[in-house]
Order: sequence, then structure tokens, then C-alpha cells
Amino acid sequence: MGKKAVQVLIIDDDGLFLASLSDYLSAKSYKVSSARTGKEGMNVFERQQPAVVLLDQKLPDMEGIEVCRKILEMDPRTKVILVTAFATVRCAVDAIKAGAFNYLSKPFELDELLIIMDLAIKNVEMEGKIRVQDYERTRESKQKQLIGSSEEMRRVREQIRLAATTDSNVLITGETGVGKNVVARAIHDLQAGRENFLTVNCSAIPENLMEAEYFGHEKGVFTGADTRREGIFELADGGTLVLDEIGEIPIRLQSKLLTILEDKCVRRIGGGRNIPVDVRIIATTNQHLDQAIREKRFRQDLYYRLAVVTIQVPPLRERPSDIPEIAEYFAKLFCRKPVSILDQDMKKMIDYPWPGNVRELRNVIERASLLLKGDALRPAGLLVSSDNDSTWADRRSFDAAEIVPLQDLKRQQILTALKACAGNKSRTARTLGISLSTVKRTLAEINIAGN
Ligand SMILES: Nc1ncnc2c1ncn2[C@@H]1O[C@H](COP(=O)(O)OP(=O)(O)OP(=O)(O)O)[C@@H](O)[C@H]1O
Ligand SMILES: [Mg+2]
Repeated sequence: MGKKAVQVLIIDDDGLFLASLSDYLSAKSYKVSSARTGKEGMNVFERQQPAVVLLDQKLPDMEGIEVCRKILEMDPRTKVILVTAFATVRCAVDAIKAGAFNYLSKPFELDELLIIMDLAIKNVEMEGKIRVQDYERTRESKQKQLIGSSEEMRRVREQIRLAATTDSNVLITGETGVGKNVVARAIHDLQAGRENFLTVNCSAIPENLMEAEYFGHEKGVFTGADTRREGIFELADGGTLVLDEIGEIPIRLQSKLLTILEDKCVRRIGGGRNIPVDVRIIATTNQHLDQAIREKRFRQDLYYRLAVVTIQVPPLRERPSDIPEIAEYFAKLFCRKPVSILDQDMKKMIDYPWPGNVRELRNVIERASLLLKGDALRPAGLLVSSDNDSTWADRRSFDAAEIVPLQDLKRQQILTALKACAGNKSRTARTLGISLSTVKRTLAEINIAGN
């Protein structure tokens, strides 16, 4: 797990200096490579892409400054430390102008070198963190706590604990809004030693950009690839990567993903080497992957790779005892003062089928909290029903012949909401508390079914 050794490249024609410095830095657990000319240096750089380059100003074939510029052209994030023979203001200015991170003048104390190296590495790490934070920001909710004491949730918690004791891939399944991402987060939090927690939504990235986002790319391999860029697997190295809505990943990329999972290495687009990554994979899906496999939209071998451990999060309507508990939890969260939910409202909520599950419940409580007058929260009136005269409670008391498959109810609800939202799919998704991709998929299913 832990941290990867930082790659350092030393370019210097002084063999003795090279050898002693290599030994010294290797002993400090850096991964060191070396070159004696500018040309050789750039070749090694291209192959190994070190984070830090220690570069002599006077090389047999070219000036250090020139090599520095070329290296930064290949990867502007590289920290180049120029080593000059004399400390002059001129040298310092030239080095910084060429984009060097810092400079040292020979002879230098090893301590001095280590301090500058350390600074360079801290910078590299910080820049990596900024991209990780970008991924963090895209998460819908920072909810870490799983509310609900039903038997079903107890089982889910037990599975979370088990999953956290291994590094095996996990597949979390369940309808939209049941809390799959909260479960993924819980596994990560329980597992010691994993750093970053990154989530990438497989349905949110356009297909043509997905490959670059996942696997990264080298500079110049396609229009717009101005710099080298790490893919999400590299960013998540040493941490947990959630592949959200894995069912949406195009079949073309599934074999590439499988290779990564099998070899634990990524290869950037246009890149020649395999980069080892240590990533704990958690995939989520609200689709029936077995159906997708039958329809050849999802690779069976990938499925088996991902589903080493599977956790199925049951829909809210199958654990009605969680409804009051979750409702009260969110009521407290959104109202910021003690409120009560009337019994009659609670009963309606318990009887309601919650097609959008916990997300929908959360949204309903949030909206009710905005309408709060006094200290009684009235969420029941906000439940979506397909016709206004009969509540879900009434429906449940109908005889069995009238019971409609949930699939149909879901479709019907989405169509009703879509009409109410004047055909706006994003608004429909928000109103129902389900994801946009679910709306789109359901509409596609309806079209296929031809009704
Ligand atoms: N047991 C729970 N306790 C508290 N909050 C929950 C729980 N389950 C879900 N939530 C909340 O409900 C919302 C939806 O949860 P989450 O994003 O994990 O659902 P999901 O199953 O991943 O849905 P989708 O398939 O649409 O991605 C979030 O705001 C989350 O914080
Ligand atoms: Mg999710």
C-alpha cells in the first residue's frame, strides 16, 4: 500500500559525482536513474518520467538550461533542480527563467540537496492532491454515516466490515438512491492504510474522453493533449477507486479495464510502459448486470473480476422500519432545530414505495424543511403520486389483482414527472430524487418496449 518511491533522474557527466549521489539518494529510498549527456538524459526522462530531475548546467553535448526547457516541454510538472558550477546571480536568474524549480551550486552540502528535494516532492504531491480534490468535489453528498437499524441494514453493515478486511474488488448493487456510494465510502473508511477515496462516474464522462480520463495520456497523442496527464487509476494509487455506474461503461473499454484489474498496471494512451498501480476497486451499479451480460453489453469476465465480493443494498420499501429513522435523521439535519413528523405523515411515508429510495426521502425531507411552519414537518404532501385521488396507502389495500410490478410503477412515475416537468429530464430526475442516467435509461427501455 503505502507511498510509491519517488523517481529521481540525475543528469551529470561527472561519473564520480553521479555514483556517489545515486548511492546516497537510493539509500534515502528514492528510485534513482542517471544519464551522462543531455540527449541520454532526455531519453531516460521520456521512458521513466521522473518527478524530480537533478540537472548539471554544463553537459558535454548541450547546456543544462536547454535540457531543462525540453524536459518541461515534455512534462511541465517536473521539478528540475539545476546544478551550477558557480553560484552567480546570473545562473540563478537563468535557471528560474527556464522554469527550473530551484538550483544548487557545486559543491553543495547533502543536507542542502535533501531540503530542496523534499520541497520539490511536496510540491508534486500537492499538485496531485488538487486533482484528487476535484474528484472529491464532484461527489453528491459527504454523507458518511449509514442510518437504519433494520435487519437488512445490519446485514449490509456486516458485509461492509468483511469487505474492509480484504483488498478484493467489491461490487455494490441496488436500485438508484439506496446508498451504494455511502456503502463504498464506509468500506474505505473502515479499511486502514488506504489514502485517497476517488469516485468516477462511468456515465458522466463522454465516451470519447473516458479512455483518457481513466488511463491518462502522453503529451501530443491527440488534439488537446497539450501535456502528459495521469489517468484516474494513477491518481488513486494507494487508495480506493469507486467506479460508479459500472454498467454504463462502453463495451470497448471493458476489455481495457479488465486488463488493468488483472495486471494491476496502467498504460497511458500513447505511452510505452506499464505503470504499476495499487488501487482498491469498488464498482457500483443499479442495473441488472446479468441481463446486460446476456445482451452482450457487459463482459462476463469483467463481471467476475469485479464481483469478488458483492453487497446488495435492498430498496427502502423492503426495509420500512428504516424510513422513520432516516426521515428523523434528515429532519434534524435540515431543520437545525427539533421538529416532529406527524404520525399520519409518517404512516404515508412508510406506505410509499420510494422509487428513488433514500435519495428521494432525503429530498422530500429537505423540501419539507423549507416549507416548515411551527415545529411539525409535513412531508407526506410532497410524495409523488401518479394520481392525486388515491394515496399509496389506499393502493396497497387493493386486492392482489391490482398490484402492479414495480418496474411499471417506476416507468409510470417517471412519465408523470416528466410531463409535470415539461419534458425536462434533469428536472425530472431531481424531482424524483433519482439519477439522470436512470431517467434516460428508463425512457430508453420504454421506447424499446414500444409503449
Ligand atoms: N443509509 C443511509 N443513511 C443516510 N443517508 C443515506 C443512506 N443511504 C443513502 N443515503 C443518502 O441518499 C443519497 C443517495 O445515496 P447514494 O448516492 O449512496 O445512492 P446510490 O445507491 O449510489 O444511488 P445511484 O444509483 O443513483 O448512484 C445520498 O444523499 C446519501 O447521502
Ligand atoms: Mg451512486
